[in-house]
Amino acid sequence: MYLDQHYPFEMVPLNYPLTGFDDFLDFQTMSIHYNQIYKEYIDDLNHLLENEKNLQNLTLDEILFNPTYLPAAKRESIIHAANGVYNHQVIFQSMNPNPVMMVSVELKNAIEKKYHSMREFYQEFKKACLSLGSCGFVFLVCDEHGDVHIEKILGSATTVPLNLCPILGIDLYEHAYYLNYKHNIKAYVEQWMKYICFDYANQEYDFCLKAIQSEKEQPKS
Ligand SMILES: [Fe+2]
Repeated sequence: MYLDQHYPFEMVPLNYPLTGFDDFLDFQTMSIHYNQIYKEYIDDLNHLLENEKNLQNLTLDEILFNPTYLPAAKRESIIHAANGVYNHQVIFQSMNPNPVMMVSVELKNAIEKKYHSMREFYQEFKKACLSLGSCGFVFLVCDEHGDVHIEKILGSATTVPLNLCPILGIDLYEHAYYLNYKHNIKAYVEQWMKYICFDYANQEYDFCLKAIQSEKEQPKS
């Protein structure tokens, strides 16, 4: 959701207060992350596109999937800002202080097809986070067949060029957790897992399945 918006990009409103994560992340961490870091990516992207009329109707996916359309002089900066917007829009919606923990039948089946059980999925997800270190993101993604897997994204990049759609994700940059967890990434990830918003993940997976189905029904030219 919100990944189909175009210029001028707007911050995804949170459906929870920044003070909502009592025993997970404090207000200062959430406020710096949302009101400063995420906002800066939005402002930078809008600023970079403000005189680029032919790019202003492009969605984030379109900007990131085929960057050869972007003007060479600004390409790197636009991609950097769009990456930041894209990933933060996923990670802020992937958690909620009062999460719906119920996984849809479709998503549960897809996760169990790959990881055998939800328990193993959680273990593998945690392993991926710990092996990434503190400079990137870990996502559960859906591929063009509707299959899901865990994908590690190192540095400023997204899953878009890989043609993978993020279903949920966690930010492992230090700004996301350091004030509360210092170097204890394991504790941060374990707490995050208590707040995964499966309501969002279910919706995103459903959206992916519908997009795949609609693609299949398109007449071949
Ligand atoms: Fe972040």
